[in-house]
Amino acid sequence: MTVALGFVSPMHVSAVRYTSPHAADFHSTAPFKKHPWASWPLALSCVAFWMRHGCRKREAKRMSGVKRRFTAGERQVSLAPSKKTLQTVDVWPKCRRQLHRYGHAQSVANPIMEHSNGFQQIVSLTLPAGKLLDDTWFGMRFGMLDAAFQLLDCFQDVEKSVLWANDLNGAFLPVRPTCKLPLSVRSGTLPTDLSGVFLRVGPNPAHWPPKKCTHIFDGDGMVHSVRIDGGQATYSCAFMETERWKVEQQLGSEWFVRLGEIHGWSGLAKILFNSLSSNKLTGLMTYETSTANTAVAFTPDGRLWALNESGFPFRFQLDRSGCPNSLGFDTLKGSLKDSMSAHPKFDQRTGETFFHGFTPGGGTFYVGRIFDGEVTDRVELAVPDGFHHDIFITENYVVIVDGSMTFEPQSVVEGGPLWNFTSQRKLRFGVWPRSAGKMTAESFTWIEADEAAEIVHTLHAYEEDGKIILWAPLARELKGATSFVLGDIGPCRMHRVIIDIAKTSVQIQEVPGSDLHTEFPRIRDDGVGRRVRYGYSAVQGDGEFDFVGIAKWDFEACRLEAVIHFPTGVIGGEPIFIPSAKSTATDHDDHGYIGMFLWHSELGTSTFVLYDARTMSPQPVAELEMPRRVPMGFHARWITEDEFNLQATMDR
Ligand SMILES: [Fe+2]
Repeated sequence: MTVALGFVSPMHVSAVRYTSPHAADFHSTAPFKKHPWASWPLALSCVAFWMRHGCRKREAKRMSGVKRRFTAGERQVSLAPSKKTLQTVDVWPKCRRQLHRYGHAQSVANPIMEHSNGFQQIVSLTLPAGKLLDDTWFGMRFGMLDAAFQLLDCFQDVEKSVLWANDLNGAFLPVRPTCKLPLSVRSGTLPTDLSGVFLRVGPNPAHWPPKKCTHIFDGDGMVHSVRIDGGQATYSCAFMETERWKVEQQLGSEWFVRLGEIHGWSGLAKILFNSLSSNKLTGLMTYETSTANTAVAFTPDGRLWALNESGFPFRFQLDRSGCPNSLGFDTLKGSLKDSMSAHPKFDQRTGETFFHGFTPGGGTFYVGRIFDGEVTDRVELAVPDGFHHDIFITENYVVIVDGSMTFEPQSVVEGGPLWNFTSQRKLRFGVWPRSAGKMTAESFTWIEADEAAEIVHTLHAYEEDGKIILWAPLARELKGATSFVLGDIGPCRMHRVIIDIAKTSVQIQEVPGSDLHTEFPRIRDDGVGRRVRYGYSAVQGDGEFDFVGIAKWDFEACRLEAVIHFPTGVIGGEPIFIPSAKSTATDHDDHGYIGMFLWHSELGTSTFVLYDARTMSPQPVAELEMPRRVPMGFHARWITEDEFNLQATMDR
């Protein structure tokens, strides 16, 4: 045994223990055929394993009360929690990382986790030959890093960081998952010919109250769904079980650095530790630590995504009752190499998806195209660091928005906003003609406005007389005004932006209704990439998330068509258009409903509401009583019955 340990560390012994039931397989693998000498350390390790196996097995049985299990065809690793086995609790993502290198990631995209008696955790993995783990060294590094983070925590004020939890009478406080709760009608009538699923995602911290500074945007992604069918409705909600969520569930507390921790020198130190060790220790790439909490999307080929701009899209599927089930990060058959923004644009007419992404802090900025479930184009553009949240498309163009916000490390150190308005940096657009075929940096034309401004979300864009017409809430500089992440920026107000490609000029116009503070703009989802007449946006009250009504915009008449004002104390969210049976993007495009959750802040209750999108009557068509509070969140989407059926047929 001593000799064996000389070849491999004590942790190697542990790893071999996991793989030993299939040790015979190792000798038949290609690397060992090519390099027979390489099998000697493994053989010796196997001897060490068999010597240690008996006592390990008894130990695990004593600690967990559950006998270790191995099954043919897969290797099941039984992990018992204690200080001694802390390292093995965290071993699985490390294994997964190694499998990435071996190209076996598909086989362990969703490791099987089980909990038994509150102690036992079992992971099904296929470990590659010759890759052994050093859990002693791992445990030491984990402990040291954890101690360093705890020391830095002493310089941060957790209580102050979660003051947002008191906003709007606790509207953002997290909830636990649930499934298939029936909804009752509070007022109106639920249309019997309406069927589909309303989805809305938002941050929902899994560990509450938090031990780490936590920003309002930091919570783990939770998808809330309302399944409507045959005049009946049910509610479900579920965490997006990302790798980050799984690791922190295993640890029982927060591990990855949060947005809320990034302030002051201690915040910068945490970023450094995080990039050097934290993600590496868990075996996850940076874009695998996304929370999937910002937006939900439906791809042209039928996949459901939960998105966050710091990571890959996260796939989930709805069961027949509308309950979301996590599937895992979508690498688009391995063709996606970087994080994707939360707002890719889907052209349902052509089946194309256009997306952008960037590495925060002044790294690369890229734009891409997806077709048939794979990335076909990806081009890096010379775009300075900024708050690049959205892009837009028309029938013939893909357009990048480069606004006036700049990431400022100095502001982070001083505890200020992450991005600040830079008045010298004018708003500009990168226009790519879809007729160009292949995306190249040279095929983008950059057109600059004559003033500084920022656009967070776009409402609608179309072409008219050879020009691109964009409707979007637009904000200008306002010194001292800060939002949750943006500094020195004024309120967003609806504008019409005319991009003249021939003259390479930009004109920013106010429209009737530009006095309203408005955000979360949306048109019907099947209208993206073509021309529709109507759009909708959330009317803001005093605060950033204080959505007090819904605005309807008429692009042809160039006006604010109507506004629904909620009763005092009622707060809404992003207005989602839900088409009625005969409504299409080209015909009667406002025939349908506006759906959203309402938060009755004074009562502490939630409802799901449908307004008539055509009449914009303040009296809802139907208001459904939610059996429990639904926290406020971010973006939403309506899944039609056809889309619901299609997503159910997609391979996992
Ligand atoms: Fe967004």
